[in-house]
Amino acid sequence: MGTLFMLWMTMAIGCATFSTSAWSVNNFLLTGPKAYLTYTTSVALGAQSGIEECKFQFAWERWNCPENALQLSTHKRMRSATRETSFIHAISSAGVMYTITKNCSMGDFESCGCDESKNGKTGGHGWIWGGCSDNVEFGERISKLFVDSLEKGKDARALMNLHNNRAGRLAVRATMKRTCKCHGISGSCSIQTCWLQLADFREMGDYLKAKYDRALKIEMDKRRLRTGNRAKGRWAPTEAFLPSAEAELIFLEESPDYCTRNSSLGIYGTDGRECQQNSRNASRWERRSCGRLCTECGLQVKERRTETISSCNCKFQWCCTVKCDQCRHVVNKYYCTSSPDRAWSPGKSST
Ligand SMILES: *[C@@H]1O[C@H](CO)[C@@H](O)[C@H](O)[C@H]1NC(C)=O
Ligand SMILES: *[C@@H]1O[C@H](CO)[C@@H](O)[C@H](O)[C@H]1NC(C)=O
Ligand SMILES: *[C@@H]1O[C@H](CO)[C@@H](O)[C@H](O)[C@H]1NC(C)=O
Repeated sequence: MGTLFMLWMTMAIGCATFSTSAWSVNNFLLTGPKAYLTYTTSVALGAQSGIEECKFQFAWERWNCPENALQLSTHKRMRSATRETSFIHAISSAGVMYTITKNCSMGDFESCGCDESKNGKTGGHGWIWGGCSDNVEFGERISKLFVDSLEKGKDARALMNLHNNRAGRLAVRATMKRTCKCHGISGSCSIQTCWLQLADFREMGDYLKAKYDRALKIEMDKRRLRTGNRAKGRWAPTEAFLPSAEAELIFLEESPDYCTRNSSLGIYGTDGRECQQNSRNASRWERRSCGRLCTECGLQVKERRTETISSCNCKFQWCCTVKCDQCRHVVNKYYCTSSPDRAWSPGKSST
């Protein structure tokens, strides 16, 4: 987490140096390093929250959003262009937009606030606009400025990344919700005021994960055909790629199976990974993770009994303490292994 944060800080500051003394966001001309430092901290926090969401979404997948994934996509020599790359870009870009937008609504920046442009206008039957609508436009602009400027090249990979960055930002807009408050005589709700609010970040993560599952592969030939657009100066990624698919994630290369470790590709492999089995509250997808991570990768599932100690039977005592017992729980955990005999001791604790 720490290294990733630093990486992002470096990249964010690095990219803002494209015009060192002054750069403008919308109508605000910001000067000097202090001005963009206002945003870089929040940009880095936003990117980090995106990566944390990525780790959550992929916790029980073979590829589980390792820390080096983002690095891989920005380092020139080993840029991958897989479905996973597309997710990383979308979620980071969305995370930056999301955080900056929240910051605006919280009044963290002088240069932006709530979007109150529609307040007082009728929105629909029985409701008018009011309150603090999240100002996604500002967040979108900052995200574009910082995250998109990491793509220096004009090749297909850079275009793919730009496209997916944008798809991530569109996801922030697509998941926004109308929230309303009732008014009228004694809460009769005869009139409501409503505002547009960002969804929970988790909901946005779920939305992008679904996009990942049906991401589109762009074939080489199609891309060559479309390079004709380049004649018109700037090569807009949405023109270069399928315009009808602007909100979809796109990728260029098929993914490896992520089963076996390959350090030159930055792949850790699934040997040693924990998986879920017989877990009561796990989803079906999670319960199948031992098959996906272990057996389908030619590894075996190893069960380990693990003892945990936690507080239990807590009682409130007047006044004012809480007394608890220490309870031992035995949990069975499951791991992928290529050598089932070692560290395998049924019935005994072995961690
Ligand atoms: C922006 O919001 C994040 C949390 O969402 C917070 O940690 C950060 O300090 C905020 N930025 C500023 C400049 O207040
Ligand atoms: C890692 O991947 C590269 C590129 O696909 C391949 O040439 C190499 O043989 C792989 N190494 C291992 C140890 O599998
Ligand atoms: C099951 O649910 C409990 C409580 O909601 C949670 O603390 C626990 O981590 C969950 N277990 C798994 C394996 O997800």
